[in-house]
Amino acid sequence: MIHVALLGFGVVGSGTAEVLTQNKAIIEKKVGRPVNIKYILDLRDFPDSPFGGLVVHDFNTIVNDPEVSVVAEMMGGSHPAYDFTLACLKAGKSVVTSNKEVVANFGTELLAVARENGVSYLFEASVGGGIPIIRPLREDLASNNVTAISGILNGTTNYILTRMDTEGASFDEVLKDAQRLGYAEANPAADVEGLDAARKTVILAAMAFGKRIDPNTILCEGITKITTADSELAKEMGYAIKLIGYTTRVEGKILAMVSPRLVPLGNPIHGVNGVFNGILVTADMVGQVMFYGPGAGKLPTASAVAGDLIDVMAHTPAGIISPVWVDAEPAEIADPDTHVCRHLVVFDTSDESAGHLKTVFGGLNAVHYTEGRFSFITEEMSEGEVKAKIASVGYPLVTRIRVL
Ligand code: HSE
Repeated sequence: MIHVALLGFGVVGSGTAEVLTQNKAIIEKKVGRPVNIKYILDLRDFPDSPFGGLVVHDFNTIVNDPEVSVVAEMMGGSHPAYDFTLACLKAGKSVVTSNKEVVANFGTELLAVARENGVSYLFEASVGGGIPIIRPLREDLASNNVTAISGILNGTTNYILTRMDTEGASFDEVLKDAQRLGYAEANPAADVEGLDAARKTVILAAMAFGKRIDPNTILCEGITKITTADSELAKEMGYAIKLIGYTTRVEGKILAMVSPRLVPLGNPIHGVNGVFNGILVTADMVGQVMFYGPGAGKLPTASAVAGDLIDVMAHTPAGIISPVWVDAEPAEIADPDTHVCRHLVVFDTSDESAGHLKTVFGGLNAVHYTEGRFSFITEEMSEGEVKAKIASVGYPLVTRIRVL
């Protein structure tokens, strides 16, 4: 028998208990022995839940119990989740997690502590909800030089943008639905302002490039300024607006950024709607592969947590299966102003011809003029260049959105 403890009985924690119970027979076959959920740590009591009797309020009950060899951390937030993870690893217990905040901020340290203590730290559920992406990067694509990753990495914002696009629904109304459906973070500012996607982007950058980047330092723009007018304009031009996490190498440095982007009709990410995520990995040997599926929600995320649990349990006490994800050398970070792409630019002007724009920007593509707004898509140019050109024009800027 192998004994497991769950830290947190919220959306993902209760989902994980459900997966381990509902699919007990197939899970135990894969693990090779009976699996017992011994404790569930939460501040609350759950008298109406079939798992209510397993709830404990004191973390020491778990960390001091030598029978518990594997722990799933699904508390969210940095503290005390990081502190509990560290204590479990030091006590010789493997930990799996869905907590992207902890992985992005403390993953390097926790992976080293896991290794020192002969146990594993796995985090498949930290990126892309139910989509397998961490394990494929670590194993199936291991022979490749990854050149770029771009993806829709946040289910809440994709759900909001999709409903704004298809129903013209208001931002606030749809955000409430995303919270009710268990997609959004406890503080949804992390979703809508892009920080959740930034955390996932740096986790992917570490897996792909072996470099750790502080998620709080990358260019990060959320979707709070996107309007239904932007969505309609993008659609007329043949694009969909998506919040995109992007990382690549630029002259030996790592570029990582999160921002809304216009995704063209022909790009496989264009059709990724609702709570679904889509992650495109470009690598030298395989070419381009796309990972697609539910990016948030109770059972999809629990499915990824349970997959890691099975992997760890099947290897306990046989060995360490955590990835080695970063080199000792710190990452050299590329200046986002060097990033080159096309840009949608919308100016507030009643000058329908806007004749001099062509001279300033060179080619203007997909030109639109409606109700005092002159919109177009630029040729490829760096962030620095487009900002300088916009400043030189003299018309008030309504919006600039990068094109993927
Ligand atoms: N709030 C996150 C999202 C949950 O919407 O993608 C999954 O990480």
